[in-house]
Amino acid sequence: MFLKVFVLFFMLKLISGEENCYSSLDEQSKPFKHFATKTIYSMVNGSAQYSIAGCTTVKVWILSRHGAVYPNASTFDFDDLSATLNTLRTEIEGNSMKTLCPNDSTLLNAWIFNSNGKDNSDHLTTEGLREMKTLADAYKEGFGSNTDLLDIEKIRFRHTTEHRSKQSVLEFASNLFGIEKDDILEEDDDLLKFYEKCPTWKANRDELSGSESKPSKFENSPFFKQTIKDISTRLGYPDTEQLDVEKVKKMWDMCRYDKAWDMASESAWCSAFTSEQVNVLEYDEDLKLYFTTGQGGKINSRLACHTVVDLLDHLENKTSSSPMTIISFADAEALQLLLTTLGTHNDTVEPPEEDLNDLSDMNRRKWKSSVISPYASNLVVVKYTCDEEEIVKVFLNQHELQLDWCENDKCKLKEFIENYRWMEKCDETFCPNMAATLYGVFGMVILAVSLILIY
Ligand SMILES: *[C@@H]1O[C@H](CO)[C@@H](O)[C@H](O)[C@H]1NC(C)=O
Ligand SMILES: *[C@@H]1O[C@H](CO)[C@@H](O)[C@H](O)[C@H]1NC(C)=O
Ligand SMILES: *[C@@H]1O[C@H](CO)[C@@H](O)[C@H](O)[C@H]1NC(C)=O
Ligand SMILES: *[C@@H]1O[C@H](CO)[C@@H](O)[C@H](O)[C@H]1NC(C)=O
Ligand SMILES: *[C@@H]1O[C@H](CO)[C@@H](O)[C@H](O)[C@H]1NC(C)=O
Repeated sequence: MFLKVFVLFFMLKLISGEENCYSSLDEQSKPFKHFATKTIYSMVNGSAQYSIAGCTTVKVWILSRHGAVYPNASTFDFDDLSATLNTLRTEIEGNSMKTLCPNDSTLLNAWIFNSNGKDNSDHLTTEGLREMKTLADAYKEGFGSNTDLLDIEKIRFRHTTEHRSKQSVLEFASNLFGIEKDDILEEDDDLLKFYEKCPTWKANRDELSGSESKPSKFENSPFFKQTIKDISTRLGYPDTEQLDVEKVKKMWDMCRYDKAWDMASESAWCSAFTSEQVNVLEYDEDLKLYFTTGQGGKINSRLACHTVVDLLDHLENKTSSSPMTIISFADAEALQLLLTTLGTHNDTVEPPEEDLNDLSDMNRRKWKSSVISPYASNLVVVKYTCDEEEIVKVFLNQHELQLDWCENDKCKLKEFIENYRWMEKCDETFCPNMAATLYGVFGMVILAVSLILIY
């Protein structure tokens, strides 16, 4: 028995050289499920049903992220990415100490930069086009029995001023109706890019790159540094010539882009990472997002105020001429901030102060951008009437969300609305300015000091 286990162990060891052999893994086992905000929709979507037997679907409100896109060349340096990776490719080819399996080395040696991206800046990729079809099909199937919901006269389409958003809504609509119709689209950056209108939010975001921020501390921790070192070592770099974080991130970007540009193609750069290493890089990005768009940013729990009010107004509107369905296409930030304001993915555990020894606790976090905001991610809020009762269900990426303050399967519209009532005065609360916040703190200190003096 013991011998058998021993032999088995050895065989596993032998295979484990191949375990990290990216080219020999089947699609399901390849470590590209969780690529933070560059995750492909089909890696995380569910297949929940939108209709409920015995109930009528009366209103639908959807906020969707655009599909997978090529980066915008005005802010993204394609030439730099291509040049850095070409240099790395040549170096790795010459590194005699690397422990990549032969097929992965072959894949990497043959890699050349795909110039499609630069030529199609900010346009949907093959995968992105496919995602818009998936979404349209999912809604046709989910709401199909109530044709009014998807009646072109009864839908309102909104998008941001960006090309990616407009192209997404056009693709989506043409998959839904089989016709191209851009005169029905409304541009609305106030509602969909609300965070750009808030200077306090932008200042908070910029502060995060400072060395004292939690994300910077994490990147300087022994745990993160060891991950970078392991990646370098596997690619054959000696201890004295380790890759820096920036280079490793470029390899990871290329791996993610290859998949987002065309899911079916192999990505040579993905072979540089094990699944555990991908988890660490994913956590690193989620940590930044926790502070920029998640619960970690003080003003984020009300920043999407106007968008939530729009949702509530839509659900409540009984005017017969009001639309049945509103669908908006925006960026990942909009969706993440909306979820933070709705309080749907609140973690009870704060990210650790500095170091982590492993990610097992953190892997249980709710705030996972791969899962909540991949390309084409979509929040669908549905109002039903069941007998005389009005109820609401919320779906994210075709998974039903459980609102812990509302009764499962029977969340009453009234209760849902009451929970967010406090948002009605958005203009006063949505973007507190820095000075006011400072005065707030200052005021509290004065109050505390005077209390101490009084007692
Ligand atoms: C490596 O590639 C060769 C040729 O494409 C293929 O026959 C072989 O099965 C591959 N090996 C592994 C471990 O995937
Ligand atoms: C994701 O969606 C596809 C197509 O709509 C479906 O076939 C698949 O089962 C879904 N994935 C999950 C995990 O439900
Ligand atoms: C890229 O971004 C710039 C600046 O935000 C914008 O002016 C331009 O239209 C974008 N490009 C495309 C193709 O949308
Ligand atoms: C309800 O819908 C009507 C018709 O579209 C619109 O004029 C009205 O402003 C809406 N009411 C609210 C509260 O949004
Ligand atoms: C989520 O967390 C935020 C910030 O800590 C808090 O303001 C909000 O009330 C929480 N929401 C829920 C539903 O727990």
